[in-house]
Amino acid sequence: MTKQGNDVENAPIAINDEGETMHDREELFLKENGLDADGIDREALLTSFADEMNAGLAGRASSLMMIPSFISIDRPVKTETPVVVLDAGGTNLRAAVVSIDGTGQARIGSFSKRAMPGTQGALGAEAFFDAFAEFLMPIIAESESIGFCFSYPAEITPACDARLIRWSKQIEVPAVVGQMIGSGLLRHLAQRGYERRVVILNDTVATLLAGKSAGVAKPYSAYVGFILGTGTNTAYVERNDRITKRADLDPSGLMVINVESGAFRGVRQSAFDVTMDAQTIDCGHYTFEKMISGAYLGWLGFTVLCAAAQAGFFTAAAAERIAAWPTLSNKHLDDFCGGRPTPDNPFQDTAFSTDDRETAVRLCTPVYARAAVLTAVNLASAILKTGAGHDPARPVCVNVDGSTYYRTLTADFPQRVQRELAALLKPRGIAYELIRVDESPVIGAAVAGLM
Ligand code: BGC
Repeated sequence: MTKQGNDVENAPIAINDEGETMHDREELFLKENGLDADGIDREALLTSFADEMNAGLAGRASSLMMIPSFISIDRPVKTETPVVVLDAGGTNLRAAVVSIDGTGQARIGSFSKRAMPGTQGALGAEAFFDAFAEFLMPIIAESESIGFCFSYPAEITPACDARLIRWSKQIEVPAVVGQMIGSGLLRHLAQRGYERRVVILNDTVATLLAGKSAGVAKPYSAYVGFILGTGTNTAYVERNDRITKRADLDPSGLMVINVESGAFRGVRQSAFDVTMDAQTIDCGHYTFEKMISGAYLGWLGFTVLCAAAQAGFFTAAAAERIAAWPTLSNKHLDDFCGGRPTPDNPFQDTAFSTDDRETAVRLCTPVYARAAVLTAVNLASAILKTGAGHDPARPVCVNVDGSTYYRTLTADFPQRVQRELAALLKPRGIAYELIRVDESPVIGAAVAGLM
């Protein structure tokens, strides 16, 4: 922190353009520690995103891995054929049997869900794969093919297996890093007597495919898949001749690229980001994701509150209570700042005075406002990278998925993202449409399994 202790008490009161005194002790504290949503240089970030994306495609040093998916969007999809789908997300592992009809609509049946292995304590590799195989047993007989949506950074092979590059979202199964995920699953299925084929794809690639499938009748010029849930990431369709780090691609073809945008390094961390990052199991990695996604926003707000409590922003009772919390969930913080706390919300504690509560809202709302600005910059970067959307009759289709995007109440979140995005793209004459397809990762994994 650059500012601690009672210094803040003496901080000057800022005057805005109209000469009015702003209620800004909290705002100053945040700014002095590097958290300032309004001050973000959006244009500079767009340039930085574009540079990093180009470097990643060329195989030069970049924070963006730009992972080829080996999935194109124009292959025929078998209709009225069931496929087994496995969806390994940041919080849940889900399975279903899915079929797609002639109009691109999905039928999802035999749906089941459990906690994602590795979220409830550390696990070994064999136990991890076994949990996946076991989970599929009730539906495995339904299809020879498995579409596997895997929501972690993984290098995809031309045969659509996936080698885990690293875990994100604080998953604790270190032994699986570097291993082939599809082969591990197939090995454990074979031990149970089932020979299968598997297609693995990132959840943003699946989301892009689900958007394409749902919007099949519409004349879109390009497709983007974006997720803001427990984690965050972006996928878009790239020309193979621009993926110059690979010499084995048909230069006339197209392929979906998994950007791994959560790993973007172009945004300077505030003092709060640095403090929180130091407590994660992957310090220094995925710093962009740690600023905008559901796994971290509550934790980040909690970091702000702890620092503010130490700096004398709260009554002694409230400061003591904050210091005693182990952390703060995103749901609790967002419900509270968004004005809809449930009775079990920690801020309902009588230790908090009305002033304490208002102070907490003023300190944490900017955490969400910054996330909205960065989300918009991320989306705009992907839309611009498609090179499309110049004809208003053929917008870029952006399928957005993820609970953090849709459910965040604080800072008027989804509307703020949309306003910011329009401010970046309208002046450039880029037409785009944000769409929502429920169960996108599951549907997209089915589409890939049926290609
Ligand atoms: C992962 C991505 C994934 C995203 C959204 C990130 O933590 O690295 O692969 O697409 O979360 O689930």
